[in-house]
Amino acid sequence: MSVAVAAGRQAWRQLARNTGTSAAIRRTIFSLPKSQHSPFRPAFNTTSKALPRFSQPQYRSYSSGGSSGGGTQVKFWPFVMVLAAGSAGWVLLINRQKTMPPNPQATTTITKPTPAFSPAHVTVLFVLGGPGAGKGTQCANLVSDFKFHHLSAGDLLRAEQERPGSQYGQLIKDCIKDGAIVPMEVTVALLENAMADAIARSGSRKARFLIDGFPRKMDQAFEFEKVVCPAKLVLFFDCPEEVMEGRLLERGKTSGRADDNAESIRKRFRTFIETSMPVVEYYDKEGKVVKVDATPKPTEVYEDVKRKLLEKLGENF
Ligand code: C5P
Ligand code: MG
Repeated sequence: MSVAVAAGRQAWRQLARNTGTSAAIRRTIFSLPKSQHSPFRPAFNTTSKALPRFSQPQYRSYSSGGSSGGGTQVKFWPFVMVLAAGSAGWVLLINRQKTMPPNPQATTTITKPTPAFSPAHVTVLFVLGGPGAGKGTQCANLVSDFKFHHLSAGDLLRAEQERPGSQYGQLIKDCIKDGAIVPMEVTVALLENAMADAIARSGSRKARFLIDGFPRKMDQAFEFEKVVCPAKLVLFFDCPEEVMEGRLLERGKTSGRADDNAESIRKRFRTFIETSMPVVEYYDKEGKVVKVDATPKPTEVYEDVKRKLLEKLGENF
């Protein structure tokens, strides 16, 4: 018996010397300061110079402290058994939690934010295409025929840029001039607010939105679908650069836009190819892209848009 006790004690001494793990776990679990857990240690360190404070008399010893202390051996085994049972229970609990499926009723497991609008009530179509592809023109047609709300991300950003007191004004201005993408938090928030306004004004929670010029980057797509509303499909206007460049330069004569000039147009094209085309490709793999050739004149393009949309969505989408 005394041999077993001595062996057990030796094993615990070794464990305490080699690791500080259990104390560290306790500190993590109970968030208590180190000193409040130290009473468990003195028995193992009565001879340790490195930890002299553990040998102070106010700490209770849980082992015999030496081969001559026969009477205290009785206290050692209950402690070992409680510790062993506790450890085994703890390990079992952790392993069980690892293998358990998430409990759908447990509120602590719900970390995914719910989109602000349900696709059961709100239909969202993203409208993409290079700068000058004619997105705005075609959206205007769809608004009159299908009662869409038309929200242009670029228009919302330009309005925010001009709003007195906006903390994002200068940032937006710089991005637009450089043809760069504005940080997605700004654009997604502007869109969500505009959607909420439109729905409030219409007095019905059912609504259709054309979100024009968005998402221009994958992070915008993920964020919007996560926090605002999942999109039904992407209407993509495909157009060669030379055609788009001609249209933009023509528009630049009267638009007053800071980015309708040759240098900004070049940067916008690069951003479109490098950052926005991957968004179109992503949704294409999901089977959500309706692609339209945007080279012909607007009336012809619209015929194609209408036909393909109705084909994909049916009359009562
Ligand atoms: O769509 P539009 O050509 O009006 O966009 C103008 C500019 O607004 C873009 O070149 C870009 O700087 C910014 N923008 C953005 N993210 C969007 C849409 C526009 O950063 N989703
Ligand atoms: Mg536009």
